[in-house]
Amino acid sequence: MAHPETLLAHVGCTPDPATGAVVTPPVLSSTFERSADGTYPHGYLYSRLGNPTRDDLEAALTDLEGGAACATFASGMAAAAAVLQALQPGDHVILADDVYYGVRKLLADVFARWDLAVTSVDLTDLDALSDALRPATRLIWAETPSNPLLKITALRAVARQARAAGAYLLVDGTWTTPLLQRPLDLGADLVLHSITKYLSGHSDVLGGAVIARTENAFFERIRTGQTIGGSALDPFSAWLAMRGMRSLAARLRMQCATARRLAEMLEAHDGVARVYYPGLPSHPGHAVARRQMRDFGGMLSFEVDGTTDDAMAVAARVQVFRRATSLGGTESLIEHRASIEPPESATPPTLLRCSIGLEHADDLESDLRQALDA
Ligand SMILES: Cc1ncc(COP(=O)(O)O)c(C=O)c1O
Repeated sequence: MAHPETLLAHVGCTPDPATGAVVTPPVLSSTFERSADGTYPHGYLYSRLGNPTRDDLEAALTDLEGGAACATFASGMAAAAAVLQALQPGDHVILADDVYYGVRKLLADVFARWDLAVTSVDLTDLDALSDALRPATRLIWAETPSNPLLKITALRAVARQARAAGAYLLVDGTWTTPLLQRPLDLGADLVLHSITKYLSGHSDVLGGAVIARTENAFFERIRTGQTIGGSALDPFSAWLAMRGMRSLAARLRMQCATARRLAEMLEAHDGVARVYYPGLPSHPGHAVARRQMRDFGGMLSFEVDGTTDDAMAVAARVQVFRRATSLGGTESLIEHRASIEPPESATPPTLLRCSIGLEHADDLESDLRQALDA
């Protein structure tokens, strides 16, 4: 296989036989013509069930993750819902304690009524994981680095426990993308992405994906959620996602380098109580992150040395960072996370989460310094 950078540079760029266009045009048609003999000569019937542009994106994500199949969805949460719908009532899910809060909310508000049992576990503690496993455990849901505390889970060890227990291991790879970490190589069964973030990369697309190690009956149920459940990604979003992915490698290289520099600056700053970035040698998951990640990512969190109001004031003073949720775009974002999560959230009230964009590192550094020093 070519290097992932090469695959990415060519995503969605098979020259169009009709025109020679180097960028494959999106196929926006919702329906496809049937021949007089009743067959579908191009293999497509109706875009919810299958669409050439969506197929191109799914094929690329399958290759990039080293999987067997991929289904793409209208959002990352639609992908998450399709995975949970593929479980049976009575099944038990182990959810990492610091996953994206929307997944926790989906399980609590929707799937508890479907009789899915959930246990929240700190997956950095392998003994806690083995204590939480039950005969009915079917799915372990991990996210590493986690959101927003950037905890690092040792995926190989968790995958071994999952396999021994007869459970699937799903890894939310939104923050890492297949360039920084390939969960299937580390033993996971499924990878989930919010395409909305780094993959599309420009804060202008909503999308999600599930990539499977094997195209088994469980994945077929996820696929049914996409096609019959009707949460498939629309072709124009698929096309925009591929346009973004073509520059992913260059974007991420710069984002990782700047994030590391800012994490080092913040760690040395008197106004900062704690920095969460796995690239720092002081991070408790640094050694594991070095083993399983190619680089440490463009996300970091830090705690302001002070009160909740002090943290809000730092966020209020930034000029280059934008105050907004989400991540993975070209513009740097800063967010007071606790105030958008539910009250029971364990996120420290002095924590600010940053998504590092493509601005010059000097400008981002001086922006954070003036916000902290004021
Ligand atoms: C790690 C992670 N997973 C999943 C999601 C959900 O994705 P979407 O917003 O595309 O539904 C998000 C969104 O913020 C996320 O950060």
